[in-house]
Formats: sequence, structure tokens, C-alpha cells
Amino acid sequence: MSAGIDGRVLLARLRELGEVGRDARGRLVRLAASDADRAGRDLLARWLQGAGLEVAVDAIGNLFGIWQAGAGQPVMVGSHIDTVIDAGIYDGCYGVLAGLAVVEALRAEGLVPARPLAVAAFTNEEGVRFAPDMMGSLVHAGGLDLAEALASIGTDGTVLGEELRRIGYAGSMVPGTIRPAAYLELHVEQGPVLEQDAAAIGAVADLQGISWQRLRIEGRANHAGTTPMALRQDAGHAAARIVTGLRALAEGGTVATVGSLRLEPDAINVIPGAAVLTVDLRDPDEGRLAAAEAALSGLVAEVAAAEGVAITTERLARFQPVRFDPALVARIEQAAAKRGLPVRRMTSGAGHDAQMLARICPSAMIFVPSRDGISHNPAEYTAPEALVAGAEVLLDVVRGLLGADRGPG
Ligand code: GLV
Ligand code: MN
Ligand code: MN
Repeated sequence: MSAGIDGRVLLARLRELGEVGRDARGRLVRLAASDADRAGRDLLARWLQGAGLEVAVDAIGNLFGIWQAGAGQPVMVGSHIDTVIDAGIYDGCYGVLAGLAVVEALRAEGLVPARPLAVAAFTNEEGVRFAPDMMGSLVHAGGLDLAEALASIGTDGTVLGEELRRIGYAGSMVPGTIRPAAYLELHVEQGPVLEQDAAAIGAVADLQGISWQRLRIEGRANHAGTTPMALRQDAGHAAARIVTGLRALAEGGTVATVGSLRLEPDAINVIPGAAVLTVDLRDPDEGRLAAAEAALSGLVAEVAAAEGVAITTERLARFQPVRFDPALVARIEQAAAKRGLPVRRMTSGAGHDAQMLARICPSAMIFVPSRDGISHNPAEYTAPEALVAGAEVLLDVVRGLLGADRGPG
């Protein structure tokens, strides 16, 4: 008889971690490699150690709790604990803490695993302070050079490697040392699909491609009262044309967002001399994503010519769509069905560490519903019973993988 997930402990930890990194305005801001991140990591490391796991940190700051058992490559579960600005408490933290809850449940039921089990919290999944996003898992999977990642300059001018050393999480382990037999990530959906379908569990079969760019527009600052409209090189107006033009080119499944826009000098009576904005383009279809990028280039050239401004673009991240391991996806569906939970296959709209781990091992994700599809917002919410149900599905799938005499897939 299995003891199951201790939902009370899981929810209490989610709430406790969710209080770490509140700013003066009460917002949850636990950006990668910040003081708040250090405090969150310290708390997580204590919990991992308390569960009897061996804690290891690699050179990009990825934090692991390892249950050394059996033989061979470990099964890995996890996600991230860094957050966006003014975040909810579930994004990422749920997958890490549910992984810990799975370890505790398996220990309580006396399972003797045939292989090790690792709980991972990857560095800088969000990519808000340092680009690219999913950085720790990308380095782990060998997709980004360690030195290049550590040299990443933050939005606040800091250097990631220095910040990791400062907070005490520049570890000694070589990234990628722990090569999993399989990786599973449990996450809140962050979108409306499961709620609309009245499904309790999402078996995530694929994940859309992501393109991030930063655009800098150079115009000419001038007097707002004396400069005739025809003689302006208004970087603010050029930025506005790109924002609205992007909306027009997001069609047929592409989503496009300008999430950051800064004008210089940012004064009421000065025509903006410069503008810096970010563009986030996503699509599950690589061809359509590439076409959207090409359309954006066309728009940039058109706006530059029409507005008399110079526009430079810098690529911050580019990841192709990912298909998860069909055998693992099927295991998730079977586990949910066995517990009588309505399950549906779906695409992930968000980026996740699982998309990087998929480069080196069979990987898949489990989603639970997000109320009103809200995420990257403090109103992010998933009902306690839905959180526990997701963790139980993770438990069942992990138990199956640990018991197997050979690797999954
Ligand atoms: C990560 O949260 C993303 O931007 O999808
Ligand atoms: Mn996340
Ligand atoms: Mn996120």
C-alpha cells in the first residue's frame, strides 16, 4: 500500500518558498543569481538534505538533490525556482517541490530503487535577468558553452558568473555530469487549455519554438514643441509601429509579444532619441516561426526607412520546437487514467527546462490546470487538490521508471 504524496507538506513548502524574495511592494521577484535566489536555494537545499538527499551544485549553479540508490543512470525530475518580476508562487517551484515530495513518498513506501533518483532546480529558467532563458538546463545538455553562459550580462549590468560566485552557488561539478536515463517535469499549465477541457492532467507531447530579440532604435532627440512632425526622427513612434506591426504578423498560431519597451531620455517634452524593446515570438511550427522572424525583419526595415531611424537587432534566444518522448508521454497518460483523472495530450506554450533535457534523454512533461490560464502574474493559481493530483501522477510514473530493469523509451 503506497503512502502517497503528502499534500499538506507540498503545499506548505510552496507557500513558504513563495514568500522568499518579496520586494518592498510585496511582489515576488526572485531573479536568477540574486540575493533572493540565494535565499530560495538555501531553503531548498535544506529541504533536500532533510530528505536524506546528497546535494550537488554544478558550475552554472544547477542544484541537485540525489538519492543514491541502485545502479546506472538516474531518473531526473525537476524544474526551476527563479521567477519573473511580480511572479506567482507555482511556476517552476511546483515541479521541484513535487519532485522532493515524490522522493519522500517513495521512501515512505519502502521502495528500493533500481537506479538513482535526482531532483533538479535549474539555474535561470526564466531568462528575465540573464539571456537566454532555460540557461542552466541548456548548459547541462551541452547546448551552450559554460564560459559563454557565465559571461552573460544581466539587464542590471552584472555578470552571471560573478553573481553566482557572490551568492555562493558557483559549484564545482562539471555541468552535464549527471546524465539522466529520463527526465520528467511537472508544471502548472500557465494557459487555459486544461481548464477549458475540464481535464485534470496534461500529457505534454511537444513544446513550441521560441525566438527572442532585442531591438535598439536610434532616432534624434529634439524639442517636442518646436520640431515639425515631418522633420522628426522619433524612436518612440518607430517603436510603436513595430509593436502594432507585430500584432498584425502574429497569425495562424504564432504568438508575438513586446514585453519590455524603454524610451530615452523618457521625458514628456523630448522626442525620444532612442528606444529599446524586446520581441518574443513563438510557434509550434518551425516553418511558421522562421516566417514570422522574416516578416519581423521586413517590418524593421520598412519602419527604419519610413521613420528615418536606425534599428539594430540582437538575438537573445532561439530554440526550435521540441517533441517529447512518445513512450514517456504514454506513461503519463496511463498513470493519469489509472487514477481516474481526465487527461489530454497537449502542446506547451511556455518554455521549460524539459525542452533542453530532451536533447540528451527521453523527456516529457505533466501539466495541471491554471485558473483562468493566468501565469507570470501574482494571480497565478492552481487548486490544492489539482496540485496533489499532478504530484501523484509524477509519483506513479517515477515509480515505474525506477523499478524498471532497463531504461525507458
Ligand atoms: C518561461 O517562463 C517562458 O518564457 O516560457
Ligand atoms: Mn516555469
Ligand atoms: Mn515562467
